Amino acid sequence: MRAVAAAPSNIAFVKYWGNLDPALRLPYNASLSMTLSAATTRTEVVFDPALDADEIVIDGRPAAPEAAARASAHLDLIRARAGHGHRARVASANSFPMGTGIASSASAFAALTVAACAATGLALDERSLSALARRGSGSAARSIPDGFVLWHSGADDESSYAESIAPPEHWDLCDVVAIVSREHKAVGSGGGHGAAPSSPFFAARQHRLPERLEAIREALLAKDFERFGAAVEAESYELHAIAMTSRPPLLYWTPATVALLHLVARWRAEGLSAFATLDAGPNVHVLCEARRAQDVVAALESLDSVESVLVNRAAPGARVVEAQS
Ligand code: PMV
Repeated sequence: MRAVAAAPSNIAFVKYWGNLDPALRLPYNASLSMTLSAATTRTEVVFDPALDADEIVIDGRPAAPEAAARASAHLDLIRARAGHGHRARVASANSFPMGTGIASSASAFAALTVAACAATGLALDERSLSALARRGSGSAARSIPDGFVLWHSGADDESSYAESIAPPEHWDLCDVVAIVSREHKAVGSGGGHGAAPSSPFFAARQHRLPERLEAIREALLAKDFERFGAAVEAESYELHAIAMTSRPPLLYWTPATVALLHLVARWRAEGLSAFATLDAGPNVHVLCEARRAQDVVAALESLDSVESVLVNRAAPGARVVEAQS
C-alpha cells in the first residue's frame, strides 16, 4: 500500500477565481493553463493499518495543522472510494517555494491524488483523477493532464474536470518565473475565491470570460505569440483587479512585482517580446517563446530584486513513479 507520484504545477492563462460551489470546488468559470516542467511536487503515500492518524510531512517538516487537515480530508475522499480506513504516512517535496504564486497547491494535490489512488490500488482514468484532484485544490485538476490544459467548469462533481487540448511539444512557450519573494503569502487562494464575488467588477469579468477564453485558446493553438501574450496579460490584470476590489481587498503585489511589470512592458517597447502573468502571489511569470528565453533570463538575473529564476516549458502531467499496492 505504497506509491510515489510526481506532478507539475501549472500557470493559468485564463484564471480560476471564485467558486460557485465551495464545498465541491466547482468554479464560476472554465480556465486554461500550461503544466510547468521546473515546478514539481513529488509525494510518497504509505497506507499503514498500524497508524492511528495521518502523518503529513512537507519539505522535511511536519505540515502545519491547517495544511495537514486539508490533506487528511482529501485522503478521506480516497479512503471512502477505496473502501478502507487505513491512515497514511505522506511525505511531499516541492522543487520550488510554496505559497508564493507558483500554485504549489496544484502540484501538491495532483501528486497526493495520484499517489494515494495508486497506493490503494484504485485505477481511475485521467478524467476521474482530475475531478478528484480538484476537490483538494481547484487548480490541481489542471496538473493531471499533459501540456496545455482546459478545465471545464462543469455543473457537478463529475463534469468539472480538466483535459489536455495540446501536448507539451505543441509549442515551445516558456514561463520564466522571477522569484521576488520566498515568503508564504498572508492570504491563500481560498480566501480570494471566497471574496471574489464581492468585487463590483466580478460579474463584468465573468461576462467577458467565455470570449476571452476562446481568443486565448485559438491563439495558443495557432501559436500566435503576440495575440496570445497580450490577451493572457490582460486577463491576469483583470483577475488582480477583482482581487484588489473585493472585500476584503487582496493585493498580492509587492514593489518588486510592480517594478517587474513595468520592465516587461518596457522590454516589449524595445523589441523583446514577453508578457507577464501572476497567480495569487508576488512572483512574476514572464511568458516568451523559447528563442527569447535566454534574453529574458539574463535580464531578470541582472536585477537585485530577483532572488532566482525558474525556466519552465510545457510538461507531462501527474505520473506514478513507484507503486506497490
Ligand atoms: O487552486 P487554488 O485554490 O490555489 O487557486 C488558484 C488561483 C490562481 O492561481 C490565482 C488562478 C489559477 O487558475 O491557477
